[in-house]
Amino acid sequence: MSEKAQIGVTGLAVMGRNLARNFARHGHTVAVHNRSYNRTKELVEEFGHEGKFLPSESAADFVASLERPRRVIIMVKAGGPTDAVIEEFAPLLEEGDMLIDAGNAHYLDTRRREAALKERGLHFVGTGVSGGEEGALHGPSIMPGGSVESYQALGPLLEDISAKVDGEACCVHVGPDGAGHFVKMVHNGIEYADMQLIAEAYDLLRQVGGHSPSEIADVFRGWNEGRLGSYLIEITAEVLKQTDAATGKPFVDIVVDQAEQKGTGRWTVQAALDLGVPVSGIAESVFARALSGGADVRAAAAQAGLPGPSATAGAHQGDLQADVEQALFASKIVAYAQGFQQIQAASAEYGWSIDPGAMAKIWRAGCIIRAKFLDFIKQAYDKSPKLTTLLVDQYFLDAVSGAQDAWRRVVVTAAQHGIPAPGFASALAYYDGLRAERLPAALIQGQRDFFGAHTYQRVDKDGKFHTLWAADGRPEVDA
Ligand code: 6PG
Repeated sequence: MSEKAQIGVTGLAVMGRNLARNFARHGHTVAVHNRSYNRTKELVEEFGHEGKFLPSESAADFVASLERPRRVIIMVKAGGPTDAVIEEFAPLLEEGDMLIDAGNAHYLDTRRREAALKERGLHFVGTGVSGGEEGALHGPSIMPGGSVESYQALGPLLEDISAKVDGEACCVHVGPDGAGHFVKMVHNGIEYADMQLIAEAYDLLRQVGGHSPSEIADVFRGWNEGRLGSYLIEITAEVLKQTDAATGKPFVDIVVDQAEQKGTGRWTVQAALDLGVPVSGIAESVFARALSGGADVRAAAAQAGLPGPSATAGAHQGDLQADVEQALFASKIVAYAQGFQQIQAASAEYGWSIDPGAMAKIWRAGCIIRAKFLDFIKQAYDKSPKLTTLLVDQYFLDAVSGAQDAWRRVVVTAAQHGIPAPGFASALAYYDGLRAERLPAALIQGQRDFFGAHTYQRVDKDGKFHTLWAADGRPEVDA
């Protein structure tokens, strides 16, 4: 074969196919391969005119059609299928070649694979890709992990096909081994939180405000012009405007109210538990999906007729729409602050040296959580790269303190009306937890010492202490 491809894609379902087309549209020659050759053939037949594709039926031909070092993007299901493809291709590759997993893999799998392939002289690059099908085709946000050396050979190609903000690529080397997939996972966790908060805002405007989905769509359209401006707010307006063709009802009313998940939000929370980072907003959004999907439990509750508030809830004490906007913005800030804290904690744990500001920068376009306010997150980390929490950056501090009265009113209204708002409420509780001068954690320490002699620290002297709870006089001793 004379002409060689700069990059190859194996796994040509819609994401793989669109990534391959994106490379071809940018003038790169793309080797394409799929388990069943039909898909490869279809891609070339349908989109061959968009650029140069080198189709191969066998893995060996595919590998042979690539220039060195070979860059092979794997776009298959996470888990077993990814391992199977790695095992198929690794023996065909040579020292310095790269296998790039662009799926939503678990970062611990990526760490394992990277270490194993390094021993075989190969680079394994776990890469987060966000933006769905459209993003893959027109410019996603790309979060590659793996070695610096692999990024030198791969980065320019990825930057080329990524989304751009003022000419700047939404792609940066995140850090070694699993760093890219970790950051993509947290991106998805934040995505879950964002979606949950938007859903709560809609629910309150509908149930307390009495507005129709179409009216609420207009509210979201208005918000999209302001500081909440983001892809998720924009598509929310679209979804709420939609009418079901079959019934003429609002689309949102004919959809079963059980939110599904593929698992990246759950992974984020699991990882956060291990790292000891309180990502309560993300956790609530994962649990809210689980609650919605718990059909049996919900049916039992309905059958038992679990009662709502006994007193008739009064009207919201304020301008509901304006207050919900404030609650949404403040809670969103909390969710991002928690997600960024988790990234920083993992970076310290694994020695990844992730630049949080760079993550905000590459999330400004292409990805699902793209939002105007990511500019402010970037600026916050530009000003103080070691910022402990976004909440202490002046812009966010002002936003949250400006929002807090409205935020509290919204949480009160939700509780009084019996409308679940776990995202708003837990974000507010997190905020109050952070600012509390004294937390009741002191009492928990006392309880632990009482039943388990787990010891405690004192506010007035150093050391660990234990109280002899059962003894006369209960003297306190050094542990
Ligand atoms: C993206 C999305 C994408 C996908 C997730 C969420 O960044 O392009 O996050 O990865 O939509 O898989 O899916 P679930 O809601 O099904 O978990």
